[in-house]
Amino acid sequence: MIVKVLKQADIDSQMAEEFIKVINSKKHPVLGLATGTSPLGVYANLVKANKEGRVSFKNVTTFNLDEYVGLEGTHNQSYRYFMNENLFNHIDIDKSKTNVLLGVGDYVSFMKKYDKMIEEAGGIDIQILGIGSDGHIAFNEPGTPFDSLTHETALTEQTIKDNSRLFNDISEVPTRAVTMGLKSIMNARKIILVATGKNKAKAVYGLIKGPITEEMPCSILQKHPDCTIYVDEEAYSLVK
Ligand code: F6R
Repeated sequence: MIVKVLKQADIDSQMAEEFIKVINSKKHPVLGLATGTSPLGVYANLVKANKEGRVSFKNVTTFNLDEYVGLEGTHNQSYRYFMNENLFNHIDIDKSKTNVLLGVGDYVSFMKKYDKMIEEAGGIDIQILGIGSDGHIAFNEPGTPFDSLTHETALTEQTIKDNSRLFNDISEVPTRAVTMGLKSIMNARKIILVATGKNKAKAVYGLIKGPITEEMPCSILQKHPDCTIYVDEEAYSLVK
């Protein structure tokens, strides 16, 4: 595990460069993508690089980590909507090659074939992750088995509270989600994780220094052969 302590602007640009390097070195790159506040700057840099002609997404396939159960892809807090708004609508990607888990309809059948779909696409070349204040990655909350594949899960009270900032009222935050599992994530060939702000300090300590335990889901990343952690001073403050 490599740890880089940087300022936000450098985190955003260096992580975008990691993506660009992988995309430009592969015929059919497969990207693992995350939503939330953390990757926004990275996506803005990728949009810029695409407009400047430094990278093309024409041959790229993407798989997103998770989706809320109960939200249509057109809902402004759904992760499909987030991806369209913050990345896909602004780059030269073929939208039919962008995969986001479904949260409505026959979402269970889709969820069950998701890991197979990833495998058939060649596996994820580079996966970006954020981290929850409780140590979750994707929506793998504390207690999720390390050998989990894509599944449905209940969100913890902490996650519902953290994510309520994006909804009108906490009662509107979905209580369930579908998510790639910890094993699905560990299958990615390369992982880059971003964590900024004091609220993430405890989780970042568990990620880097803590024991590898299912109570701190992110700690499994200590076992990944190619994982780089991008943090700012505040998120890193308990590790020093
Ligand atoms: C989102 C996801 C989540 C977030 C985490 C941090 O696809 O998988 O694990 O990365 O909840 O969210 P932010 O970045 O909003 O603090």
